[in-house]
Amino acid sequence: MSVDEAKRLAKKNLSPKRYEHTCNVRKLAVKLAKAHGADEKKAALAALLHDIAKELPRDRLLQIFTENAIIAGNAAQRPAPVWHGAAAAILAQTQYGVDDGEILSAIRCHTTGRPGMTKLDKIIYLADMASYERTYPEAEQLRRHALADLDRTAIEGLGLSIAWLKAGGKPVDEESLLAYADLRARYYGGRTSEQTAGEP
Ligand SMILES: [Fe+2]
Ligand SMILES: [Fe+2]
Repeated sequence: MSVDEAKRLAKKNLSPKRYEHTCNVRKLAVKLAKAHGADEKKAALAALLHDIAKELPRDRLLQIFTENAIIAGNAAQRPAPVWHGAAAAILAQTQYGVDDGEILSAIRCHTTGRPGMTKLDKIIYLADMASYERTYPEAEQLRRHALADLDRTAIEGLGLSIAWLKAGGKPVDEESLLAYADLRARYYGGRTSEQTAGEP
């Protein structure tokens, strides 16, 4: 699929507000890809398709999982707010002809992360979380940090997101907890919690 085709698809399937968000995610994802030596076209495609299933009704998302049970895995058992990532990856693969595993993975885990996140997974996760229209106080800092250090900022972003969900009494997807622990173990290696005090 070309970037122009993905853009047309996003425009057709999304409300103007979500399409604007999607364009902002693309802008930041390409900037991060450039900064960190990732494939800019893959970043653009994953960004343009990441929320393609976000406005589908709950029944349709469940139908997508049932009809694609093998690819969907345990998606339906996960918290409902994360369904649209798995559904978007399924649609990208089965309807839109995207066969690149890196792009599909980045779309699938864009709201949760996952253990063993690739560079593109981290780019799309952070470009979505800190896209230019986000107004929460940490967004600007996350954008700046992500340009300088993708791994450290993925830890920062996941840590913030898990803390917000917990504070709001909302369920935290298991994949996010695993992703957070995995990223920290890789980044901090054998350093103790005293040695990493003050780090994200
Ligand atoms: Fe999303
Ligand atoms: Fe999004």
